[in-house]
Amino acid sequence: MCKELRPDTAVPALSQAQDALLKLSILARLIGAKSVLEIGTLGGYSAICFAEAGAEVTRIEINPKHQEVARESVEGLDVEVILGAALEVLPKLSEEGRQFDIVFIDADFDDQWEHFDWAVKLTRPNGCVFLDDVDSDSIITKIGKDDRVTATLVPIVATHPMIPIPHILSFVVGSE
Ligand SMILES: C[S@@+](CC[C@H](N)C(=O)[O-])C[C@H]1O[C@@H](n2cnc3c(N)ncnc32)[C@H](O)[C@@H]1O
Repeated sequence: MCKELRPDTAVPALSQAQDALLKLSILARLIGAKSVLEIGTLGGYSAICFAEAGAEVTRIEINPKHQEVARESVEGLDVEVILGAALEVLPKLSEEGRQFDIVFIDADFDDQWEHFDWAVKLTRPNGCVFLDDVDSDSIITKIGKDDRVTATLVPIVATHPMIPIPHILSFVVGSE
């Protein structure tokens, strides 16, 4: 079980359902992930799960309040925090030549395709992009046609009351 968030956190409990994140952290262990980029952090629960799986986590968060709570919740873990809009930060990481074993996309839906596009560029060959979750068939179709990746959908039954059931997690593996 990943570590609990601080009980006094001021951020609403919107973090992904624990069972979904545990599945991701198990997958991270299976591929021996040493570096994870997370787009969208909220209270930092997913970052904790990836860090506890042995990865160095880089997180991008647009909301200063969420970023601050997440910073406190990951104290002592190997986590880098970047405050900013993902579409401003991702090109900079690319310019720096950064590559990750896993990119976990869990931010706004409006920019989801652009986040995915950057995620593929920033993922090492045969690394993984996790997309959580999807709210339209169009992005699934687009990703399915993308030659850069081999993609599959992983349905996850969520236990969080604010997440619709079934919760669809798209699991994408780089094809190069
Ligand atoms: C669903 S929550 C993330 C939950 C977290 N991954 C977890 O499971 O613990 C989504 C977060 O994405 C952030 N966010 C939304 N749009 C963003 C953007 N364009 N760039 C960076 N962060 C964004 C929100 O402020 C929010 O904290």
